[in-house]
Amino acid sequence: MTLTHSYKLIAPFYDAAVARLSAPARRASLANIPSPAGLDILIDGVGTGLDLPLLPAAHRYVGTDLVAAMLRRARARCAGLDCRLLQADSLALPFAANSFDVVVLHLIVAVVPRPELALAEAARVARPGARLLVLDKFLRTGSSAPLRRLLSPLAGRLATRLDVVFEEVLAQVPALVVKSDRPVLASGWFRSIVLEKRAR
Ligand SMILES: C[S@@+](CC[C@H](N)C(=O)[O-])C[C@H]1O[C@@H](n2cnc3c(N)ncnc32)[C@H](O)[C@@H]1O
Repeated sequence: MTLTHSYKLIAPFYDAAVARLSAPARRASLANIPSPAGLDILIDGVGTGLDLPLLPAAHRYVGTDLVAAMLRRARARCAGLDCRLLQADSLALPFAANSFDVVVLHLIVAVVPRPELALAEAARVARPGARLLVLDKFLRTGSSAPLRRLLSPLAGRLATRLDVVFEEVLAQVPALVVKSDRPVLASGWFRSIVLEKRAR
């Protein structure tokens, strides 16, 4: 079973499982999109598009995801937005460097098998000074979390890794600095992190 297969199976049930629980954290994360109109914004791993109805119409959006069944559900949520969806891998984004003012990374960094590569790709396509909005589950540095570490190899093949330490990922992407980092769900296992790409 690959992530592509499992998200194809998960797609019809995803919203029922995730939408309500995640809505307040999404809203709070997306409030970090700067207000001047006309920004280029990437929704990386857009999934079924749960972020889309929460976005201001003032910007241009591109949503990417590896799985067509997830993107099909996102399409209806593009209504009223300047929004383009395309099938693409977060580990090899099909965009030139310095293309986006904001990159939204909700529940994608800990999902992919190589979080550091997903973050490096997001940093590559972000413009200097751009914001990257991360919302995901991360272990704290030094946390033993034996059950999560035990289950992570299986969970990582089916839906998401459980053993990702954000600080270890960030250390591999020196172009990014942390602007804020807040616990949002599950006693701080889920965090809302705002990153900024360093100006050259
Ligand atoms: C947990 S869902 C999150 C979806 C959405 N960002 C949200 O917040 O609801 C993870 C998404 O990542 C997608 N995905 C998994 N691996 C990917 C990859 N390598 N590149 C792009 N998308 C990927 C899945 O298809 C799925 O839609």
